[in-house]
Amino acid sequence: MAAAVRWVLVAAVAAAAVVALDNGVARTPPMGWLHWERFLCGTDCAAEPDRCVSERLFTEMADVMAAEGWKEAGYEFVCIDDCWMAPTRDERGRLQADPRRFPGGIRALADYVHSKGLKLGIYSDVGNSTCAGFPGSYGHYELDAQTFASWGVDLLKFDGCNAGSLGLLAEGMDLLTCSVPECKAALSPGQHVLLAQVVFGCSDSRSFQAWLEKAAFSHQRLRRAEHRSTACLVIGNFGLSWEQAVTQMAMWAIMAAPLFMSNDLRRMKPEAKWLLQNKEVIAINQDPLGKQGYRVAKDKSFELWERPLSDRAYAVAVLNQQEIGGPRNFTFSLTFLGNGLACNPACSIQQILPTSRDWGVYNWVSSLSVEVNPTGTVLLRVVPL
Ligand SMILES: *[C@@H]1O[C@H](CO)[C@@H](O)[C@H](O)[C@H]1NC(C)=O
Ligand SMILES: *[C@@H]1O[C@H](CO)[C@@H](O)[C@H](O)[C@H]1NC(C)=O
Repeated sequence: MAAAVRWVLVAAVAAAAVVALDNGVARTPPMGWLHWERFLCGTDCAAEPDRCVSERLFTEMADVMAAEGWKEAGYEFVCIDDCWMAPTRDERGRLQADPRRFPGGIRALADYVHSKGLKLGIYSDVGNSTCAGFPGSYGHYELDAQTFASWGVDLLKFDGCNAGSLGLLAEGMDLLTCSVPECKAALSPGQHVLLAQVVFGCSDSRSFQAWLEKAAFSHQRLRRAEHRSTACLVIGNFGLSWEQAVTQMAMWAIMAAPLFMSNDLRRMKPEAKWLLQNKEVIAINQDPLGKQGYRVAKDKSFELWERPLSDRAYAVAVLNQQEIGGPRNFTFSLTFLGNGLACNPACSIQQILPTSRDWGVYNWVSSLSVEVNPTGTVLLRVVPL
């Protein structure tokens, strides 16, 4: 029941985000790391020193992000999720970090993260308490925004648990709008800028299909307006097959979704690292044209998606949604890609996932046959010639 309410709220935030972007604040999707899906609400640091939500977890993650190519690949936010707080506010009503797990406080942690050339994200909730039962921001929006700003926090994940009504969420969004640089001046001078980026909702492999359907639908409804829903990459964890990981990465690129990983960067398999740091996929995700992709066709549990890129190029994804059986071929005509423009009169096709491969040059009336593993995706870059 509580989970269902949360989803409604998440959808409402997504709709509100469209308005914000239409105001000309065009940014490429933010990239970073978030603790929730991998580390959840571990608070017992004596029993699990490596895994509890603590200063050490975030400094170690920042170290790895700076040292092992993550920062260079574009991942810049180190994000704290739920469970960072002490169970009560301080004597002046301010949120405070749990003193045993964050002995240096959030300000010192932000300084450390900044010293690595990275940015710090923090978590709060629009309701009276967070999803895990820590103090929520209801009735304290202004104070909490000031507190986060005084700590040098760069990004806020504003969650929707215990929010009661959609009206309340709108109240929360006002605060977020008021966190953008332009109106940040309303807060005290010299404070660090909170970005008006909302990180919300994370898809696991099971909710993936529902997420895609919703995205395909909302795209039709919004007629290719900027629309960004945030998702979370759980690649590198235990729950995803290789095919599912490839599909996640490819589709987040097609959707221009913010790339927030939630995994243990200290213990990554080389193939997961290759996928998450793949320059060609990230370049599609971060394409400066900033257009979100959309579904072109759905046929026999295959889906064909495309995303217009700068330089007249297109990213094209072929998903095989069937979970059983073996690899199957999907054959499609190039004539209609990009509203007939992508291969007119010819195009070169580069495969990016699941492996890098040059498909060569095709003309307008050609068709392409791609073999896709169950639950997998083939991601292509099509450049008109
Ligand atoms: C938070 O608690 C106060 C006091 O009990 C109550 O008036 C308010 O409606 C609550 N807010 C939400 C969103 O439930
Ligand atoms: C897919 O098509 C290619 C090229 O026509 C062929 O070599 C391959 O065997 C086909 N794969 C399947 C699973 O049918």
